[in-house]
Amino acid sequence: MKKVYIRTFGCQMNFLDSEVVVGILAREGFELVDSPGKADVILFNGCSVRQHAEERVWGGLGALKKIKAKNRKIKIGVLGCIAEAHKDEILRRFPQVDLVVGPRRVKEVGIFLREVINKGNRLVVLGQGSDFLKDESFALRKNKTSAFVRIMVGCDNFCSYCIVPYLRGRERSRPSRDILDEISALVANGYEEVILLGQNVNSYGKALEEVIDFADLLKQTAKIDGLKRIRFMTSHPKDISMKLIEVIAGEKKIVRHIHLPLQSGSDRILRLMNRGYDSGDYLTLVAKLRQAISGLILSTDVIVGFPGETRDDFKKTYNLVKEIGFDNAFIFKYSPRLPAASAKMKDDVPLSEKEERNQLLLALCRKEVRK
Ligand code: 5AD
Ligand code: SF4
Repeated sequence: MKKVYIRTFGCQMNFLDSEVVVGILAREGFELVDSPGKADVILFNGCSVRQHAEERVWGGLGALKKIKAKNRKIKIGVLGCIAEAHKDEILRRFPQVDLVVGPRRVKEVGIFLREVINKGNRLVVLGQGSDFLKDESFALRKNKTSAFVRIMVGCDNFCSYCIVPYLRGRERSRPSRDILDEISALVANGYEEVILLGQNVNSYGKALEEVIDFADLLKQTAKIDGLKRIRFMTSHPKDISMKLIEVIAGEKKIVRHIHLPLQSGSDRILRLMNRGYDSGDYLTLVAKLRQAISGLILSTDVIVGFPGETRDDFKKTYNLVKEIGFDNAFIFKYSPRLPAASAKMKDDVPLSEKEERNQLLLALCRKEVRK
């Protein structure tokens, strides 16, 4: 029996992908081990959303050189967004890597791995898979009470800084029947909580044959007997409808937490980011949410140092974050991600300035949290 070790970087979607991969490999007779030293197959499921995320993967991959030098039979695979974004670089820089699989092909990883093991060649599989949205019930989840459940993949928003649409493709939703059946089965297996995942859950249902939106899906999910809590992420501010707010407010099983990425408080920067809202729209939305949903927990993402972000733009972000008083905020230093549109703009905010803005916001948010 071949032993496999998998290490995951990145977002919840990537963690779910790894659980799917582990499920597939278990079905095909692989055994999961908890350290690379014990493994015949080492898989890295890596993220590419920011430069920092990538650097962590590069560091980890470099360290595998020694393991491979000791045992040439070990197979090493790189999966996920970083594979899609950087296949050439991976093949060139890391001769120890045998397999490169993009995020939309990970459900076929068992077949690819067999080929690499049996034929001894290097294999690269990217782009769209035929069955990516089908059954994921075989995922082997780490957490035994709370489960990630994919409701959609991809993104059509094309925020100018973001590489995701290029790596995970256009937005596609899973039919509601498949999602609800999967959740019912999870509940029958003892799960109490589901976390519905999508790059932009609020646009769930677009282009499905059935007429359904995210609010409808939440209502139907809440009807599942035995399910205690429903969480979801991520929400795009431009797509939160009054109908959705009412469903969240009225349904006890839905956890009163919304992760609502702001990204910037400067209208000029928000326009350059192609976010589809301005600071006024965001404030109005937060007011509506807080009025309708008592006890709402609000978290956000902010990018500092977007191309052309002046001190004045940053001040606007700082003031808006302060005014809103988020319960939690994730602050990221901008990094260009080709082929995303902003990568063609000059990355002109010096790193030291990004760092300073990052620290200022972190200090502010720590204060907010302490309040
Ligand atoms: N640079 C910095 N942060 C980014 N994010 C996405 N793309 C970039 C980028 N190019 C951040 C956004 C997003 C979070 C997942 O990562 O804030 O909401
Ligand atoms: Fe997740 Fe985006 Fe990173 Fe891919 S690039 S793992 S979708 S955060």
